[in-house]
Amino acid sequence: MIRLIYVSTIAPTFNEKMLIDILHTASTRNAEKNVTGLLLYNGSNFMQTLEGDADVIAELMERIVKDPRHDGLIVISEDTVNERIFDGWFMMLANVSGRPVEAEHGALVTGMPPEVLARLSEPMRALCQNFNMISN
Ligand SMILES: Cc1cc2nc3c(=O)[nH]c(=O)nc-3n(C[C@H](O)[C@H](O)[C@H](O)COP(=O)(O)O)c2cc1C
Repeated sequence: MIRLIYVSTIAPTFNEKMLIDILHTASTRNAEKNVTGLLLYNGSNFMQTLEGDADVIAELMERIVKDPRHDGLIVISEDTVNERIFDGWFMMLANVSGRPVEAEHGALVTGMPPEVLARLSEPMRALCQNFNMISN
């Protein structure tokens, strides 16, 4: 199994309502493909962790790279792993922009939930916390 982490920058045409669409698509499709992960949004950038079978992640990344809602995507790590960090989370979105984003069903989290932080290894925790600070 692969755990891949990338960062990207929102496209000039991006608006925060698109977060809801991304979350809906991601959670439905990822559940079908047994992909788990976390999507952080800080107001300017995304940082996403994707966990799943190598071929599934490769196919998914081909789609994500081409997605016009963001650009400048850079893979920052890709490791073979035996265990999932985000077991059961087909895509959790943490909005760390400091502003609540209106969600019809209140699906969006503001801030990084403590239970998420608690599940991360120390380097992952540092990575997420640094990411949370680069937006403002
Ligand atoms: C930041 C970001 C994260 C995304 N994460 C996922 C994801 O985890 N799973 C997924 O299926 N699609 C994700 N998408 C959406 C895909 O880019 C793509 O739109 C979607 O898979 C539908 O692909 P299709 O239009 O080729 O059918 C993400 C898009 C963005 C901008």
